[in-house]
Amino acid sequence: MNTDELRARLAKYDVPGPRYTSYPTVPYWEDTPLERQWLERVGAALGGSARADHGAALYVHVPFCRALCTFCGCNTRVTRTHAIVGPYVQAVLAEYALYRERLGVAQPEVGEVHLGGGTPTFLDEAELEELIGGLLSASRLRSDAVLSVEVDPRVTTLGQLTLLAAHGFRRISLGVQDFDPKVQNIVNRVQSVAQVQAVSEQARAAGFTSVNFDLIYGLPLQTPASIEGTMDAVCRLRPDRIALYGYAHVPWIKPGQRRFTDSDVPEGAAKRALYELGRERLEQAGYREIGLDHFALPSDSLWQAAEGGSLHRNFMGYTDRYTLPLLGLGVSAIGDSGDGYVQNEKDLQQYHERLARHELPIHRGHLLDGEDLVLRGHVLRLMTRMETNWSGPGYTPFLDDIGARLAEFAADGLVELRPDGCRVTAAGRGFLRNICMAFDARLARRSPERALFSRTA
Ligand SMILES: C[S@@+](CC[C@H](N)C(=O)[O-])C[C@H]1O[C@@H](n2cnc3c(N)ncnc32)[C@H](O)[C@@H]1O
Ligand code: SF4
Repeated sequence: MNTDELRARLAKYDVPGPRYTSYPTVPYWEDTPLERQWLERVGAALGGSARADHGAALYVHVPFCRALCTFCGCNTRVTRTHAIVGPYVQAVLAEYALYRERLGVAQPEVGEVHLGGGTPTFLDEAELEELIGGLLSASRLRSDAVLSVEVDPRVTTLGQLTLLAAHGFRRISLGVQDFDPKVQNIVNRVQSVAQVQAVSEQARAAGFTSVNFDLIYGLPLQTPASIEGTMDAVCRLRPDRIALYGYAHVPWIKPGQRRFTDSDVPEGAAKRALYELGRERLEQAGYREIGLDHFALPSDSLWQAAEGGSLHRNFMGYTDRYTLPLLGLGVSAIGDSGDGYVQNEKDLQQYHERLARHELPIHRGHLLDGEDLVLRGHVLRLMTRMETNWSGPGYTPFLDDIGARLAEFAADGLVELRPDGCRVTAAGRGFLRNICMAFDARLARRSPERALFSRTA
């Protein structure tokens, strides 16, 4: 695609749109389950689902960060004190105990544990030990379980890495974002290549076998030259996986993003050019593009899952297996039973108060109806396999005019249409969010009355 073609496409398709880490997307959840209904769905997924051979997945949200990176869109609590950490760890363990008691399962079989945030390595070694030891002693961990953690290299020590590895953690994701000093300064995220290199090497020496870097394109002051510099350093350090996220600029939701001027933020064709450049550099270095915004070396299990058809996408991004149920523990954490979602209280105080009353701290959620389940399947297949088929079990009446909805994408060479299915072309990959929007019945029926989503470019 030449530059003029790209500009014309972006003029048409650069619109606010979801990233589809779930379907329906969170703003369209409307049928919040009662605690009893949620437990029934989780219990059914634990007991009899086709995917029960993986056991359950636990996601633990650790919201704490030492300082705010002003681009950040995550649910964080900036603090320097550790006084709130001990009670928080106890609350997360109490939440897990409540699930086990109400499900009548003393030690659930667990196939995946993910510590995310915020910054899990804000916790010191004793606090990490209490959290992980507490979770694992209450679980039957499968021998093939996958344990992963997100870390901020600026606050991660060899002691913490050794402790995590001793508990079986093998996957680690480092927040890198960008290596350019001007960009780092304006987003209040200053860290050196040496710091990132040291944590990567220490992690590998401790026993981690898959190292991921999170990078962002579209940050304020980024230029093609700054992306070149960042990619040079990234390719030298050679992580196994890379997430190259599009910067989600939502200052009306995240006031921290007002600390830089909008005119410093690359948009439209300029932003997309940064991604294209990053992709080119990574592919030259031997990485393969996966789904939306992700890359992996062919030796990594994420690429093997993409090849083998087991790639899955959920609230944590892409994973190499589809484990159900997903129990989300901690403030703002999201759970998935396969046919329902819940999100916990987003306010720390309220999270504690609900648990003190012996209630599951569910803030909102959604029970999927028949149409949701079919459409969720299409969005997932598009996001993970770049194709889908709407005959037989893939059919729901909303899809009667899917050919018309996709006609413009087909005319622009972004999808190949068949009578009962479609495939995303190489040119269409960059418009994957837009293509998924054609399958989003809830978005089609009610366009948001206020700004909800970042732009798709
Ligand atoms: C929980 S953080 C990672 C761990 C750790 N807190 C850190 O920053 O090193 C998750 C990732 O989300 C990404 N992220 C955060 N805010 C974003 C935004 N507004 N747009 C795109 N990606 C964002 C960043 O790449 C970040 O590394
Ligand atoms: S990017 Fe990471 S360290 Fe920075 S504020 Fe967000 S969660 Fe915290």
